[in-house]
Amino acid sequence: MIEQLVAALGAADARIVRAPGRVNLIGEHTDYNDGFVLPAAISLETWIAFVPGGRDVELTTLAGAQTSFSLDAFQRGGDWADYVKGVAWSLTRAGMPVRGFRGVLGSTLPIGAGLSSSAALELAAGWALTDGSPPIEPMQMAHLAQRAENEYVGVRCGLMDQFASSLGVAGSALLLDCRSLEWRSVPLPPEVQLVAIDSGSSRRLESSAYNARRSECARAAAALGLASLRDATPEMLEPLQGVERRRAQHVVEENARVLSTVAALEAEDLATVGRCMAASHASLRDLYEVSSPALDALVEIAAGVDGVIGARMTGAGFGGCTVNLVRREAVGALVAAVTREYEGRTGLQATIHPVEAVDGAGRIR
Ligand code: GLA
Repeated sequence: MIEQLVAALGAADARIVRAPGRVNLIGEHTDYNDGFVLPAAISLETWIAFVPGGRDVELTTLAGAQTSFSLDAFQRGGDWADYVKGVAWSLTRAGMPVRGFRGVLGSTLPIGAGLSSSAALELAAGWALTDGSPPIEPMQMAHLAQRAENEYVGVRCGLMDQFASSLGVAGSALLLDCRSLEWRSVPLPPEVQLVAIDSGSSRRLESSAYNARRSECARAAAALGLASLRDATPEMLEPLQGVERRRAQHVVEENARVLSTVAALEAEDLATVGRCMAASHASLRDLYEVSSPALDALVEIAAGVDGVIGARMTGAGFGGCTVNLVRREAVGALVAAVTREYEGRTGLQATIHPVEAVDGAGRIR
């Protein structure tokens, strides 16, 4: 990839920055409720090779798309370049110096598959716009990327994706308390492989349904007199009914499952990790109602394979990917089962990505 980017740019001394995608092991739809999440940055990444200088950004993708704009005057275009412009906007608003560059962008992350290709693009852009050595902490960079997505692109995501892409730790998942912003790495057992499986189903309704879930949670918290569902306990949910009850119950129980999963990983109790992942998926399917028949099928197929520790949908849902925790020697059996059963059950083609947990965004050279 590096040689390809440098050749396309035609500058042997180019700087190179990278930013990874993520899977979330558990803690879904909890980040915007001030709760806990456990994502990992993964070895599917976005790279930019660039030559810094001036006030213009000229960025070409290896696939041939192109954008160019001046840092002093740019407008939303309704396309992928808005993520780059949005980060330029939020860095500038935060008083951070930004520079133009001429660059080439390449990625191994599937676009729009629910593995945070947009967060990776934001983080890579943030590093390129700050000339490969941002004068800010990785957590602040994550916040500025999130603000770009919330306020410039107009997607009301939480912090998880940008946090994972920015602060990833090789070989580990990351436990983040989305209220205090305290976080720590949680090493993954070396005998275990992360596998992301793309269901190949469209996420068409994702944005409106995502925003609806956020509003339902806010209404449930308000009805309980709380600032966020983070402070709710199972006993407190009694007065809630219907949709608000189901959403709140998911959030309260999911937060508890994140902490149980971390404790189980640290105690090398993988059976409990698997049970928490299964319960999380069932809750996202039945209470939060963000799964899909395709995601359910992938989880069911994985559950029938010896050596699969846990499987669940990952990210916002409504299509996209599952995350699977698999004993390394069982990855082949999982691939075989999905190949054998998935298309027949759903009419869709899955793409299987065995990945490793990697470090967060940064400059390679
Ligand atoms: C998307 C958002 C995240 C998070 C997840 C659901 O990935 O970008 O902030 O809310 O959905 O857990």
